[in-house]
Amino acid sequence: VLSRPISVHSYDAAMGTIQFLYEVRGKGTEKLAALEPGDTLSLVGPSGNGFDVESALGKRVALVGGGIGTAPLYQLAKELNAGGTKADYFCGFRDEPYGVEKIATLCGKVQLATDSGRYGFHGFVTQLLNPEEYDLVLCCGPEPMMKAVAKLCEEKGVTCIVSLERKMACGIGACLGCTCKTTTGGKCVCKEGPVFDSKEVFGA
Ligand code: FES
Repeated sequence: VLSRPISVHSYDAAMGTIQFLYEVRGKGTEKLAALEPGDTLSLVGPSGNGFDVESALGKRVALVGGGIGTAPLYQLAKELNAGGTKADYFCGFRDEPYGVEKIATLCGKVQLATDSGRYGFHGFVTQLLNPEEYDLVLCCGPEPMMKAVAKLCEEKGVTCIVSLERKMACGIGACLGCTCKTTTGGKCVCKEGPVFDSKEVFGA
């Protein structure tokens, strides 16, 4: 069984705990979800880079997440908040949202969109975002959503940083199974990403 790449939802160095939030999508995540307290599993990581919190502090920051791509934004919001920066949070879900409240407590303005229209704005999260109100947009979600966010940011000259998702076999830059195209050639998402400037990976 190959490992599954899962972002860190939250960690607490003092407590020695780490949390993952994942969607059960197939066999691997089904097995994970079936684990019982006391079971063991192997974990490789942390792999690659992360959002650069230091460079975001003191800026007007928007966090934009879609679906399970909102998972790493909780840890990011915690670190920004600890550094005195309250980002605004824009999130989109197919239908029922999750994890919004706990991220909201760390953020300023919160905007929610759903495809179904049952919760929040009926439409795409990109329809709620005005990049010109921010210095920096940090984004994680489905690639079409991130491309749309990147395009909006590009039009307004705002830096957009995205976190890519790929299937990963080794997680250490050895198998080259997770490469993405960049303006400077192929790069491993596991080792040189998953966080990239959107201009580098989408050419937007
Ligand atoms: Fe093997 Fe990235 S998963 S190189």
